[in-house]
Amino acid sequence: MNLPVRSDRPWWRDAVTYQIYIRSYADSNGDGKGDVEGIRSRLPYLKELGVDAIWITPWYPSPQNDHGYDVSNYMDIEPDYGTLADATRLINEAHALGIKFIVDIVPNHSSSDHEWFKAALAAKPGSPERDRYMFRDGKGENGELPPNNWEAVFGGPAWERVIEADGTPGQWYLHLFAVEQPDFNWENSEVRSHFEDVLKFWLDLGVDGFRIDVAHGMIKEAGLPDMEVAPDLLSEIKAPYWDQDGVHEIYRAWRKIFDSYPGHRMGVAEAWVPATSLPKYLREDELANSFNFLFLDSKWDADILKTNIKRSLKELEGTGAPSSWVFENHDVTRKVNRFDQGLRGGGVANPKDRWGDLEKFDITRGTRRARAGALLMLALPGGAYIYQGEELGLPEVTDIPHDRLTDPRWKMSGYTDPGRDGCRVPIPWTADEKGAHGFSASALVTKLSAWLPQPQNWGDFAADMQEKDANSTLALYRTALKIRRGEAGLGDGEIEWIEAGPTAIAFKRPGNFACYVNFGADLPLPAGAKVLVASGSLNGNSLPVDTAVWLRLK
Ligand code: GLC
Ligand code: CA
Repeated sequence: MNLPVRSDRPWWRDAVTYQIYIRSYADSNGDGKGDVEGIRSRLPYLKELGVDAIWITPWYPSPQNDHGYDVSNYMDIEPDYGTLADATRLINEAHALGIKFIVDIVPNHSSSDHEWFKAALAAKPGSPERDRYMFRDGKGENGELPPNNWEAVFGGPAWERVIEADGTPGQWYLHLFAVEQPDFNWENSEVRSHFEDVLKFWLDLGVDGFRIDVAHGMIKEAGLPDMEVAPDLLSEIKAPYWDQDGVHEIYRAWRKIFDSYPGHRMGVAEAWVPATSLPKYLREDELANSFNFLFLDSKWDADILKTNIKRSLKELEGTGAPSSWVFENHDVTRKVNRFDQGLRGGGVANPKDRWGDLEKFDITRGTRRARAGALLMLALPGGAYIYQGEELGLPEVTDIPHDRLTDPRWKMSGYTDPGRDGCRVPIPWTADEKGAHGFSASALVTKLSAWLPQPQNWGDFAADMQEKDANSTLALYRTALKIRRGEAGLGDGEIEWIEAGPTAIAFKRPGNFACYVNFGADLPLPAGAKVLVASGSLNGNSLPVDTAVWLRLK
């Protein structure tokens, strides 16, 4: 493909996007929860970090059963987080700093508090109100059995029976996630046109794109047949509710809306589908980007990573779309823990998969690997996503008291999987523990009273300390992002693999740039090369284990 130079191509081909989990980022009003004004106060930090775009997790009115992924009104801001005026100001100020703005859209399901769902409950079976969701009669003599055998992602059956207006048990509704997250019926034209209005609403406010939640989920197989086996994430076995062909029609309609606005507005798919399916979401009349979950799902292993990188680049070849590399988000275990414990990113079924063997967790080794991983990711062709706190090298918090866990997964797994709260703990901005280490503007908020408690050692990762330390993980991210901005050959474009043995990953990018990542014994680096940045100290001219380096080759 003939790629125009970076300044002439759409921003999303190269962007490094920073994910903000709003509830945990910065609390401006002292209620112990992050908010819009809190984010605004951190814009200078984000500018200094050097990211090109930010993505904000759902900030819409919501009862917070799944922390905003249960939306009760798609065209407003959660009162706990601020107002539409605050949001507009944030979007504009980000733009003034040259930072693009992505919001999260949740089209697969709403909150059970949504007006439409309340109307559906109040209405009769077969009514237009019920048709906006997936209501069905149950099986069995009196409809006492769920309509089929589908399971909710968080655990348990994916169907909930309702009580009808006359007080008797009645129909069932589908919820692929929590009970409080009823699935929309995307065969219903009102649902389709509502979401088109939602897109336009935010596009009119100036957003540059949408992160599309459960982008592979909206269309269900006709007749809602039983599933044969419970699908594993990213597996080729297709569930009757994931990755159905019908979703692409939705994206073709959305793409027309994006393209009707000036600038390069875009959609990025959260699609947990096999690598062979992903290209379909990226056809030229569909979405611009899709998270590379095959990459995220890779263990810290040279062969697995290299194979998955090559495979995903190959699968994308025909689409013209760049890859969007990602190691962390608000759903997966922090990479410090994962890389140390040899864990995959997705497909979490039990606490061992999520956290590994805590007795054997070595944070020093995990941090080395996480830092090396950062240089690997940021040198690969395409865009990249960084999750808040990743740049501080935050580990997963594994000792949140059970009575403080809030992830619906905890309850729905029958209290066997603690869920995702461990990567959602409020950010430590200051070493001083006042205001939950600077997370809150109010000193009345403490480490323990923030919406999720911070662990004892949280101050060790504080941004203000790392800012002063040239060897900190924050300094590494800042340096790498600065180099990346100045290197015309980074971001989207060509990659040329270098053979460096079975325990290393090495490749060249245009401009005599090379990246080496070492997973084994000391690796001699090419003679005469200049080190641009390294994730740890070198051994003379050799790269130690679990270390990565960016080089200018001779
Ligand atoms: C996505 C979100 C996750 C949420 C789920 C249901 O996977 O990333 O946080 O729980 O969708 O909306
Ligand atoms: Ca707040």
